[in-house]
Parts: sequence; C-alpha cells; structure tokens
Amino acid sequence: MYFCLIVAFLVHVISSYALVDGIWNPNAPSSLGRRSPDVNGPLDDGVLEKRGATTCGPSANNAGVCGTGPYYCDAPSCHFQYGPACDANQTPAGVNTTSVPRPKLGSTPYGVSIRDCGIPGKVALTFDDGPYIYTSALLDLLKENGVKATFFVVGNNGGKGQINDPKTGYPALIQRMYNEGHQIGSHTWSHADLSTLSRQQRYDQVVKNEMALTDILGFFPTYLRPPYESCNTDCLSDLKDLGYHVANYDIDTLDWQGDYGHSQNIFSSNLKSVSPSTRGFISLAHDIHDETVHTFTTYMIDTLRAAGYSTALYGECMSDPPANWYRNSTTGQPFNGSSHNSTSSSTAKSVSGSTNSTTTDTVHTSTTATPSAVSGGEGAFGSRTGNTTVSGTNSTIAKSQSATGTGTKLSGTTAKVVGAGVVWVLTCWAFSI
Ligand SMILES: *[C@@H]1O[C@H](CO)[C@@H](O)[C@H](O)[C@H]1NC(C)=O
Ligand SMILES: *[C@@H]1O[C@H](CO)[C@@H](O)[C@H](O)[C@H]1NC(C)=O
Ligand SMILES: *[C@@H]1O[C@H](CO)[C@@H](O)[C@H](O)[C@H]1NC(C)=O
Ligand SMILES: *[C@@H]1O[C@H](CO)[C@@H](O)[C@H](O)[C@H]1NC(C)=O
Ligand SMILES: *[C@@H]1O[C@H](CO)[C@@H](O)[C@H](O)[C@H]1NC(C)=O
Ligand SMILES: *[C@@H]1O[C@H](CO)[C@@H](O)[C@H](O)[C@H]1NC(C)=O
Ligand SMILES: *[C@@H]1O[C@H](CO)[C@@H](O)[C@H](O)[C@H]1NC(C)=O
Ligand SMILES: [Zn+2]
Repeated sequence: MYFCLIVAFLVHVISSYALVDGIWNPNAPSSLGRRSPDVNGPLDDGVLEKRGATTCGPSANNAGVCGTGPYYCDAPSCHFQYGPACDANQTPAGVNTTSVPRPKLGSTPYGVSIRDCGIPGKVALTFDDGPYIYTSALLDLLKENGVKATFFVVGNNGGKGQINDPKTGYPALIQRMYNEGHQIGSHTWSHADLSTLSRQQRYDQVVKNEMALTDILGFFPTYLRPPYESCNTDCLSDLKDLGYHVANYDIDTLDWQGDYGHSQNIFSSNLKSVSPSTRGFISLAHDIHDETVHTFTTYMIDTLRAAGYSTALYGECMSDPPANWYRNSTTGQPFNGSSHNSTSSSTAKSVSGSTNSTTTDTVHTSTTATPSAVSGGEGAFGSRTGNTTVSGTNSTIAKSQSATGTGTKLSGTTAKVVGAGVVWVLTCWAFSI
C-alpha cells in the first residue's frame, strides 16, 4: 500500500508537470501530456522549458506586473507592452521586408474579409497556429490521402520557438509543406489580435512573419488569416497596404475546444446543408492539437469525399494563379518560379491545373464588404494579446489573461485536479491487482 502511494505520488508529480506545461495551451492539456513519438529530436520539451524560464520584465515603470514562465513570456498571452522578453517582441533573423513593394496581384479582393470558396464542390481544408509537434504527422497523413491543404503559420506562439530557428526543426517542416504542394499563408508573428494594435504594431506582426518565412522559403505569402478572425477597418486597410488578402473561412470546426463529436457535426452538417454542385467551403482547424491531426483530419477528408466534394487550396478557391500566392521578397512581384526548389514549383503549378474557373467570379465576390470588426471564431489560444488592461499584481495578470479567452485557466485547473485524482485512483488500482 505504501509502495502504491509512493508510486502514485510520483505519477502525480509527473502528470502535474505535464499539465502545468499545458498552460501555454490550456485548451488541450491532455494532448500535451501525452506527446506522440514524433516529438523526439529538435522539438522536444527542452525547447519549451528553456523558453518558459526566460524573464519577461519587469519594466521600469511597471515593476511587479511582469514575471517568468509561459503566462508571462509565451505569445499570445504575453503582454508585449510590458515584457521586453515576451516572444512577441523577438525579431527573427532575416532581412527586414518593410520596404518590399506590394503591388496588388490578381483579381482576388483586397481590403475585405474573404470567407467562401468560389468553386462549387471544393473544400479548402485550412490549418492554423502551427507548425507544431503534430504538423509532421499531418503532412504524412495528407500525403497518404493525396490531399493538399493550406497552412496559416504563426511565427512564434505557445513557447514553440521561432519558425525560422533551425534548432526548432520548423524550417524543414515549412519547406516540406511547400514542396509537397500545400499553400502557406501568414497568421502573424505571434498570434496577435490585430484589431487591438496600432498601425505600427500591426506592421510589426506582419513584417516579422514575412522576415521569418522569407528566411525559410525565399519569398512570402499574400494570404493572411487574422488571429481570432479579428480585423477591424483600420486593420483591413493596413493589410491591404501590405498586399494581403484577408483569408477567413466559413466553417469553424471549433476543434480547439476538444469536443470532436461537436466538431464532426459542424463539419458534416455544413457540407450536407447544400449540394456540392452549388457551393464550396473553407474550413478551419488547428494542427497544434493531437486529436485534430490524428483523428479529425481523416474524418474531414472522408466526410467531404462521401458528400461529393473534393479538396482545394485557398488560392484555388479564389481562382488565383499560384504565382500570386506569394511575393518575391526583393521585387514584390508574383513568385512563380522556384530557384528555391524546382520540383516544388511544378508541384504547385500542377495543383493549380485542377482549378475550375467556370464559376468563380460570382461566388467569391460575395465576400463581406467591410466588416467593422470581425471577431470571435478562433480561440485556439484562449487569451489575446493586444492592449489588455493590466493592473496590480501578478495574479491579476494571470486572471485577466485567462478570463479574456474562454475561462481557460479555470478549465486547466479543473482538469489538473480531476486528472490528479484519476491518476491516484488508477495507480493504486493498478498496483492492487
Ligand atoms: C510577483 O511574483 C513574484 C514571484 O512570484 C513575487 O516575488 C512578487 O512579489 C510578485 N509581485 C506582486 C506585485 O505581487
Ligand atoms: C523594419 O524596418 C522598418 C523601417 O525601417 C522599421 O520601422 C521596423 O522597426 C523594422 N522592423 C524590424 C522587425 O526590424
Ligand atoms: C525539392 O522538393 C522535392 C520534392 O518534394 C524534395 O524531394 C527535395 O528534397 C527538395 N529539394 C530541396 C533542396 O529542398
Ligand atoms: C526575386 O527576383 C529577383 C529579380 O528578378 C531574382 O533575382 C530572385 O531570384 C527572385 N527571388 C526568388 C526567390 O525567386
Ligand atoms: C512570373 O509571373 C509573372 C506574372 O504572372 C509573369 O509576367 C512572368 O513572366 C512569370 N515569370 C516566370 C519566370 O514564369
Ligand atoms: C466546373 O464547374 C461546373 C459548374 O459547377 C461543372 O459543371 C463542371 O463540371 C466543373 N468542371 C470541372 C472540371 O470540375
Ligand atoms: C492601452 O490603451 C489605453 C486606453 O486606450 C491607453 O491609455 C494606454 O496607453 C494603452 N497602453 C499601451 C501599453 O499601449
Ligand atoms: Zn490562430
């Protein structure tokens, strides 16, 4: 019995640690607790722990409000205005792209929130917030199924490290995405709520992700998905100036909430609500969640095929030629060749050959005109960056950060308590038989 309790205690300590680590992504503590074998190598725990130990502040006139660990340092929960060491404040290696010319390319609209796939019968599967430790497995799965998807990547979130830092393993993963014919869009540098930022801060969020992506690929995207689907009129205007299409979606699977039965219903009921001959869809999921990658993606692929749809890339839904999906980071012109990898350009081009251009214009101009503030939707990271009012003590910060999301701190704590109880009971039970 004593032995049982000792072992249970050890298991408890270990599991608590995993759940604490899960704070950076409180909606999926269990998935972080059981990392898949593919995390070995450069993307191991060591990287995350090292980041968490960095001190963010305190700054001179806000002594006391800054701290260490994921709550303080990891984007997007980190209050970048207060913590100089906040991930959001890091600048990636690479050439500053601010002065790259940004001519408007193609006929896909700028300055509006795009939501629908212009091609009937097509579903653009999109994955946000990665790359992360499950992305490699997702690429394997997509390849097995002959599916191309669109990835809206974040430069540095969840304490994962900078995407263009070779130590993280992400540069190779992003090159692989491109080489295997997937489309890459931007989801900002550190998952900021763009509507809450100044023009200069928005530029920073966009430019730093361009710098990192250019460092990896040699060019940068023209499609950007605003975190939390949040982009007010100032934001829409800035993104237009920066040469980005605002690439939203019309099926939010809510996979980050962890209720995959619900996510399946959302996905299938949308597809079945109309005939594939009349319209297409753009769906949202997140490759930072184990179950999304290992279970739900297969469900989406099987379901869309059974309902008579096939997949498309985001740019294909817009009937936008692949060259317009990216800019040459020197000239700002369409990136259509690949000095980077000649195999890859033919991959991307051949994918575009399947585009059905017959029906596009009418549908994709039905984009929302000028939403004053598009909000809601994506809450994969719970809390938001931006100018959150911070007052008082450390615990106030933690509270306000978790409260802005969906009560994530609370659910994390609950999960921890319940998890610990289950672990103790199961461990003792295991040793009693
Ligand atoms: C913030 O937290 C640190 C470490 O836990 C503590 O030393 C400090 O007193 C706290 N500051 C305030 C204002 O509570
Ligand atoms: C890039 O250059 C612009 C213009 O010189 C400057 O305002 C901005 O701070 C720079 N950004 C980074 C991340 O270095
Ligand atoms: C180019 O893409 C091909 C096909 O995916 C891949 O096998 C090859 O390793 C890539 N080459 C480089 C230099 O990235
Ligand atoms: C961008 O354009 C310049 C000038 O045409 C060219 O030299 C360079 O190779 C291009 N970059 C890439 C990544 O294709
Ligand atoms: C790249 O695309 C532009 C615009 O579509 C075109 O003018 C140019 O000829 C293309 N260059 C190559 C090398 O295909
Ligand atoms: C293109 O779309 C039209 C209208 O939905 C359809 O009739 C046609 O078969 C499609 N062509 C291809 C190649 O998918
Ligand atoms: C946050 O917003 C408030 C009110 O809009 C403003 O007074 C304050 O200066 C802002 N703080 C930062 C750090 O941007
Ligand atoms: Zn996101």
